Amino acid sequence: MPTLLVTGGAGFIGANFVRFWRERHPADGVVVLDALTYAGNPANLDGVDGVELVHGDIRDQALVEKLLAERDADTLVHFAAESHVDRSILGPDAFIDTNVIGTHSLLKAARNVWLDKGSGRPHRFHHISTDEVYGTLGPADPAFHEDTPYAPNSPYSASKAASDHIVRAYHHTYGLQVTTSNCSNNYGPYQFPEKLIPLFLLNALEGRPLPIYGDGMQVRDWLHVEDHCLGISLILESDAAGECFNIGGGAELPNITVIDTLCAAVDDAFAADAGLARRFPQAPAANGKASASLKTYVTDRPGHDRRYAIDERRISARLGYKPGRDFATGLQQTIRWYLDNEGWWRAVQNGSYRAWMERNYTGRQGRIA
Ligand code: NAD
Ligand code: TYD
Repeated sequence: MPTLLVTGGAGFIGANFVRFWRERHPADGVVVLDALTYAGNPANLDGVDGVELVHGDIRDQALVEKLLAERDADTLVHFAAESHVDRSILGPDAFIDTNVIGTHSLLKAARNVWLDKGSGRPHRFHHISTDEVYGTLGPADPAFHEDTPYAPNSPYSASKAASDHIVRAYHHTYGLQVTTSNCSNNYGPYQFPEKLIPLFLLNALEGRPLPIYGDGMQVRDWLHVEDHCLGISLILESDAAGECFNIGGGAELPNITVIDTLCAAVDDAFAADAGLARRFPQAPAANGKASASLKTYVTDRPGHDRRYAIDERRISARLGYKPGRDFATGLQQTIRWYLDNEGWWRAVQNGSYRAWMERNYTGRQGRIA
């Protein structure tokens, strides 16, 4: 039975990937290794059977070696990271520690177990990275392709770029069977409400300002998290060791368009369901006003990248990847998920899941029952 070790599997994309994989490969073993930082939440894995959640740090090389060897894992899917650009501007150290040192520690563990002690047994180390490593584009520049030179601009993207290079080096130098994917901005269920879409949705429901950085004309390519998981699984199932693939959602949009679409969808949802006004009395939509009335232009993020766009011809031509939904559909599904899962985001907002975790896991590593 193949077993996957998934780092960061209690975070947003990692948890969605674990759900995606378990549904399609129920016979495979899945072990999640997660430090349960502010962004890691065991509730993201609620209702998924057959997953072992180990509370630990990717920088703990001995622990990773033990998990790879004892669980007989042949695949490591590496999501664990500090992932928010704004936090990297305020405090870059954690980004270097986890994204650079942590990734190197995982590579050392994988090399030791799979190559040195395992005599090169079949294995795969898949590294999840970002399109932000390529820097920023002008309005008429061609989209990022896999050979676009790296030019990271934030401490976050610089730390991811460094990790991509180390992953590549472990393939070329030691023969570790690695693949890397660089994806665009994800959205969907279980996203921590610090990123644009969930933050603005919850603010619209609770009548708080929607803080638009600068002129709001920065462009991102929006990728539904399940489409991202599809792309990752196609890469894992391919024989593409040593290769990199861009994954995008085919939805290149200025932030202001995303925000206006989201505000209109919230207004429509309130118009269609009178119960929402009772649940969210602070929402403008509950008081005869447009959600867009909360839009507030604020000082721009330092070093804010202007445009990201993904050229995904390699993964479509080689592996048949195609995003499964357009942005309007994906956004509607995401809004519906947050409306239907108020308990999840209330617990995240008021920290009650953290208090529960601290009671249960402080200073411990091991299986979470
Ligand atoms: P997230 O912040 O929601 O989750 C990160 C997870 O990693 C959390 O569960 C956290 O507890 C865990 N973690 C952090 N430090 C750890 C450590 N030292 N040891 C073990 N676990 C640790 O992030 P996400 O949005 O799910 O992103 C997942 C990956 O995808 C990251 O590598 C990120 O760089 C990449 N990515 C994300 C996006 C996006 O739009 N969210 C876009 C491109 C790439
Ligand atoms: P974010 O979700 O932080 O992703 P990234 O910075 O990795 O692209 O932000 C997406 C875009 O939205 C980005 O251009 C910054 C902008 N933004 C705002 O305008 N206001 C906000 O409060 C946030 C969190 C983001």
